[in-house]
This record gives sequence, structure tokens and C-alpha cells, in this order.
Amino acid sequence: MPTTPAQAANRPKPKVPYMQNNFMDLPKPVVPRVENRKLLKGQKAIVTGASSGIGRSIALALGHAGADICINYVAGEDKAKAMVDELRGHGHTAFSFRADVSNENDVAKMFEAVRDEFGTVDILINNAGLQSDASFDEMTLAQWNRVIGVNLTGQFLCAREAVREFKRRGVRPEISCAAGKIICVSSVHEVIPWAGHVNYAASKGGVMLMMKSIAQEVAPYRIRVNSIAPGAIRTPINMQAWDTPAHYRELLKLIPYKRIGEPEEIGRAAVWLASDESDYVQGTTLFVDGGMTLYPGFETGG
Ligand code: BGC
Repeated sequence: MPTTPAQAANRPKPKVPYMQNNFMDLPKPVVPRVENRKLLKGQKAIVTGASSGIGRSIALALGHAGADICINYVAGEDKAKAMVDELRGHGHTAFSFRADVSNENDVAKMFEAVRDEFGTVDILINNAGLQSDASFDEMTLAQWNRVIGVNLTGQFLCAREAVREFKRRGVRPEISCAAGKIICVSSVHEVIPWAGHVNYAASKGGVMLMMKSIAQEVAPYRIRVNSIAPGAIRTPINMQAWDTPAHYRELLKLIPYKRIGEPEEIGRAAVWLASDESDYVQGTTLFVDGGMTLYPGFETGG
């Protein structure tokens, strides 16, 4: 049984910086403005699940960086077409393709269509993902299978097609140092357990070791494979976490940086990870989470 030294009771309590303020008194968040650079000029990209949320922002950012984009979607044809119009409106090249990423045949057809349209693929953004939440004992097998099917098997199927294409084509030094780049959109929940979301956390944990194992295997072919792990980003998937001031205050308890992330911040990370600026980055997860993975409970506890 540990004993407490007598003098400990008189010792002043350490000052926890965050506790001295109400977080409403902390500096107001400023969302960065960053200039677009054509880091991906001449490259061809597929963004899965690109008609909304994080996928939408990544597709726009890649387009602004000079890439031609295939907008993959499974539902919501209108939104996908609107995305294509938006990219074209900026002078970028884009088309949309409907494919269920958890279906082997659909994925093969999508890569064929991109080869027909663009000649090849340089960048795969493995983004399509969903949540289907339930307490563990009430989770149905269908909920489990659907989330694993899209979030994990879908990333496997798309990555496999991409690697086949990258190996077939090899490096074109005038386009990129690498034969191809795969970016898996994972989540902080590849390392943070998440009660009530067991299927989702299991899928993202799976993405982490799938990504690293593929990265190890294909690195000698100059194929780069990495992940981005977003924290809480303002998108429809987690609207209940930020839609009222009370919910937002609760959410900020989990974020040392004390603001929600914006989808554009994931777009910028994706451009960098897909570009030659990060050429020596392999098999890594880039957390874009305002510190959510830094055990936020220890700001004031422990
Ligand atoms: C989930 C969001 C959640 C965030 C942080 C993401 O992967 O999709 O719903 O807000 O992780 O918990």
C-alpha cells in the first residue's frame, strides 16, 4: 500500500495552464489560409467517397493542386455530378464514377474507366467510409459486415488495383519520384478505442496494419502508402458532436487545440502526402486531430 509523505499535503498543487482559464477565454481559433501550389500537376487521382465530407474536400484540394480527379460515389449521383461541375468550374479535369468499393467487380471497372479516361492512376485516396453505431450486444452481423466491408475490405480492393497499375507503369520521373501513392483515410480510432462503435474502431485498427504491411511490401517498387487519421472534423458523419453549443463544449474536452477541425485541413494534408514533398514518408499515419490522441484527460488529471 503506497504511503503519502507527511510534507506532500503542504506541497502547492502544480498549475495546469488550461485550468486557469475558461476555454472560452482562450485565444479565438483562427483557421489558416494557405496558398494553393500546383504540387500534383499532371497526376491522375481517384478519390473514393468523394461526393461529401472529407472526400469532397480532398478532391477539391487535389484538383487545386493540379491533379485530374475521378470522383467515386455509391449513392447521391447529383452530389457527385455537382462536384464534377465545381472542379470543372475551377478549370480542373474531373469525371464521376459510381462504384461500391466493397464490390470487387465495381472496383475493377472503376480502375478500367480511369485508365480509359486518364491513361493511368498516380494517386489513390482510400476515403470511402461509414459508421453504423450500436451498443455491442445489440450490434447486428449486418452492421458489422457493412462497416468492415466498406471501411476495410473496400480499402483493400482499391489499394490492390492501384498497386497493380503502379507496378505495371513504373516511375515516370517527370511526373513524380514515386510510381504511385496510396493514402488511406483512417481515424484517430485506429488507436483510440471507441465504445458503441466497435465495428468502426475495428475497421480503422485494421486499416492501420493493412496500410503498414502494404507499405512494407511495395516500397521497393517506389510505391508510397500512408494514412491520414482525422480527429473530429466538421462533416455530416459527426454532426451530433458539434451541432449545438452544449455538444460542442463537450467535444472540446477531447481536443487540446480547442477547436473542431475543418475538412480543408485534411485536404491540405492529403496534397502534401501525395506530393514529392513527402517522398521519403512511407508507412506512416499522419494524425490531423488537434491533439485528440494526446490523452486529453491528462490536461487536468493524473
Ligand atoms: C469519426 C467521427 C468522430 C471522430 C473523433 C472519426 O473517425 O468518424 O464521428 O467525431 O472520429 O471521435
